[in-house]
Amino acid sequence: MCLNLVLILQLLMLYFILGHVYSAKLSERIVGGSAVTQKKYRYYVRLHYQGEFKCGGSLLRNNAVLTAAHCVKGSNMKSLRVHADTIRLSDPGVVRSVKNALVSRSYNADTLNYDVAVLILSSAIPSGSFTSITLDKKAVASGTNCLVIGHGYTKEDGSVAQQLQEVSVPVVSRAACQRKYRGTGAITQYMMCASVPGKKDSCSGDSGGPMICSGQQAGIVSWGMGCARTKFPGVYTDISKIYGFVEKVLKQYP
Ligand code: ARG
Repeated sequence: MCLNLVLILQLLMLYFILGHVYSAKLSERIVGGSAVTQKKYRYYVRLHYQGEFKCGGSLLRNNAVLTAAHCVKGSNMKSLRVHADTIRLSDPGVVRSVKNALVSRSYNADTLNYDVAVLILSSAIPSGSFTSITLDKKAVASGTNCLVIGHGYTKEDGSVAQQLQEVSVPVVSRAACQRKYRGTGAITQYMMCASVPGKKDSCSGDSGGPMICSGQQAGIVSWGMGCARTKFPGVYTDISKIYGFVEKVLKQYP
């Protein structure tokens, strides 16, 4: 019993030490991306929960953020903060609390179907501190290269990125993605997929952040089997399928 515990602790220590050595050596970003050094994606926001970085999001207008449902579902709204106008994790930027967090009844926490949430902020972000992003109402053709940004892990067993990262990934057809994830259930009509197999993908911590295709937001980082694996693309909420829900909420909460 006791020996077991000691062994586990030692393994844990080894794991952390090695983890640090490796993350210091490698320079992968998001996974396979590069650092954003200028404030050019000013619709991007970070979501912090209980003081810790949790997810990404995007500004639809001065007081509304689009993110993933799994980033906020079940959390205490009082402990949620939105950080705008910053590209470094250590920089708080413009901080707002959340007045309302809206998740559709169609959201399923087990399957991550309909993984979308709209946050209404306690007060508006000043106009000089952000730009808003428009949503893509049409489905994106497979093969289209899209931009994904976030502070998520730079490799599967990595850690979050201090500097905001960006990566360009091609959209994979839903049918091809369903085949990769075997069976037909996992990838629903509310999801879309993208990655450069083995090279470029989003990862843990990128969730809730935007996927931008031709200047409009077409996806929300949702889930994936590992990160940048050869077999499994990243999975995104397909904005063209959940657009109606977002519109309704925005009208209901001005
Ligand atoms: N679920 C993750 C998060 O909460 C996002 C994972 C995306 N994974 C991927 N392989 N693209 O941050």
